[in-house]
Amino acid sequence: MKKKKTVIDFMQMKEKGEQTAWITAYDYPTALFGEQAGMDMLLVGDSLGMLVMGYDSTIPVTMEDCLAHCQSVRRGAPNTWVIGDMPFGSYQTTDSDAVNNAVRFIKEAGVDCIKLEGGQRVASRIRAITDAGILVMGHIGLTPQSSGQLGGFKAQGRDVKNAREVIKDALAVQEAGAFSLLIEAVPPEVTAFITEKLNIPVYSIGAGPCDGQLLICGDMLGQFKIFTPKFVRQYADLAAVTVDAFKTYIKDVKSGAFPTDEHVYHITEPKEKFEALFDEFK
Ligand code: KIV
Repeated sequence: MKKKKTVIDFMQMKEKGEQTAWITAYDYPTALFGEQAGMDMLLVGDSLGMLVMGYDSTIPVTMEDCLAHCQSVRRGAPNTWVIGDMPFGSYQTTDSDAVNNAVRFIKEAGVDCIKLEGGQRVASRIRAITDAGILVMGHIGLTPQSSGQLGGFKAQGRDVKNAREVIKDALAVQEAGAFSLLIEAVPPEVTAFITEKLNIPVYSIGAGPCDGQLLICGDMLGQFKIFTPKFVRQYADLAAVTVDAFKTYIKDVKSGAFPTDEHVYHITEPKEKFEALFDEFK
């Protein structure tokens, strides 16, 4: 049986230069396959709003949505590190709301840590949640929940002024007590500097090499085609496979090619007895 990694394993992986590979997962089967494949971590991202629920942003996603998906992933991957992503509105208000909602992720969904977006401006939230005994992963750079303030889904840290803010955010997240940091859509030069500077593991989604990589499951499997960020490598085309399978099934049903004898349950008594039964109802 796979041994579940701990926060100490992730620290040691950084020290040894061993990469951490992880994806998002929102449901039981993906979690099951992720664990079978040997993923180091699974993030139940609030990206589920777009990938699973069909919203055009993460903003409408609720605590209840996140908890239900975290529970499914936990059941599918009992021996994998699972990260619960705090949705918009669950920590922006006060430190105390942030702690109460982080506690729900741990108690009701059994996740191993929570992730929240922001650097300097959420430092007190990270400190409060950490002080409550809950592990926090920071998330800086392109932070989708505040994409409006960033002027859209735009890469961050591309000029010196903005890179300075990204570096200050990274330092603030570590200082506030986070056990790791995710950087999204930042140039590799800035990520490399932060990875070297920080003691905690630094992970990337579209931010170049560091201590590990995250991809959105629907992007890397070719399931979500509405938009594909530059940083995605597609490892399969499940959308094409799925549509092909659906089309073949429709054709088989319409032509009578499905079902055949192998797909039905057989009677356990002589046919004549059934004929007699049917006669009773004629
Ligand atoms: O919700 C999510 O999947 C995320 C990633 C974009 C990092 O937060």
